[in-house]
Amino acid sequence: MQDPTPLIDPFARAITYLRVSVTDRCDFRCVYCMSENMTFLPKAELLSLEELDRLCTRFIANGVKKLRITGGEPLVRKGIMTFFDGMSRHLASGALSELTLTTNASQLRRFANPLADAGLKRVNISLDTLNEQKFKDITRWGRFAQVMDGIDAADEAGLKIKINAVALKGTNDDEALHMVEWCGQRGFDITFIEVMPMGEDMGDGMRLDQFWDLDDVRAHLGAHMTLTDIPHSTGGPARYVRVEETGQKIGFITPLSHNFCESCNRVRLTCTGQLFMCLGQEDEADLRRVLRESPDDAALDAAIHAAIARKPKGHDFDYSRQGVGGKMTRHMSHTGG
Ligand code: GTP
Ligand code: 5AD
Ligand code: SF4
Repeated sequence: MQDPTPLIDPFARAITYLRVSVTDRCDFRCVYCMSENMTFLPKAELLSLEELDRLCTRFIANGVKKLRITGGEPLVRKGIMTFFDGMSRHLASGALSELTLTTNASQLRRFANPLADAGLKRVNISLDTLNEQKFKDITRWGRFAQVMDGIDAADEAGLKIKINAVALKGTNDDEALHMVEWCGQRGFDITFIEVMPMGEDMGDGMRLDQFWDLDDVRAHLGAHMTLTDIPHSTGGPARYVRVEETGQKIGFITPLSHNFCESCNRVRLTCTGQLFMCLGQEDEADLRRVLRESPDDAALDAAIHAAIARKPKGHDFDYSRQGVGGKMTRHMSHTGG
């Protein structure tokens, strides 16, 4: 592959992390992510697996080192292993440092071994609760036992596991400690995420009522264990602490209470080939049109660079003043979190 032309945005941030949503579909209907009656995109709108491969390859040629596959639920996309197997050639060549996945774990029994074979070393698994009834309440359609089995399968396949839990006041606030301890016993890392105001179906108060400031989560955990800040980074937005008693790591993703946009290194590609330069802004670039217009990679490279040149400084999410600011009507499933 040619020498990469680095993707540098207007704020001098190098864009080295691409999140790719390979489908807008999901077998769950998490309350903070989707409405129960979602209309999904017709197939013709979706990038084919070949188009996804071509586009990701251009990003890698332009300096992207980390590729995270998201959805919807990425493992419900038909033929998805073809895409992972294709991307593994960039791991083998050294052009890509990490190929990974964010998943709800429902399909991992079937996919954990093939994913490990494709070169995946770790997976992030969305799991907000260990209580079966609450799991039903949050995911609406999720089957808890199937998810637990998927997690076991990933573990057995030798994949490192990080659990992502969206902190929801009144829902899982009594479980934070239990979840940390469970992850400690299983040898998993865990990251808590502040709930973001995305999706049009919720009334204004909903996310605000559920918002649980992660400073409070940290203080709550700190009353039971010794937490030390550590400089550990996975290239994502989480800030980490170490639990001195067990050595386990806990991450905090705090888009609301501590904005981390100044160190943003990522952009998001949707399953229709739209590039979102920020999770919390509307601006998008239509890479599908460029891709389908011409087989010329130079045109695609130019479109990618032009999009990065428009990357905004950050999101405007805000729960202060007892209201919700900077809301996005887009569902999280559209951009893959
Ligand atoms: P690691 O590689 O393990 O660091 O993963 P990651 O945190 O980059 O990816 P993951 O899919 O686990 O992301 C967890 C969640 O963090 C996402 O789904 C979002 O909710 C949130 N998040 C990630 N990146 C951003 C970002 O740029 N802005 C905001 N506001 N939230 C983000
Ligand atoms: N706020 C914060 N995190 C969210 N996720 C989905 N919707 C939201 C939201 N509104 C998380 C999921 C998953 C990741 C891809 O995004 O729980 O871990
Ligand atoms: Fe599906 Fe993840 Fe959205 Fe839940 S948060 S509905 S598992 S895409």
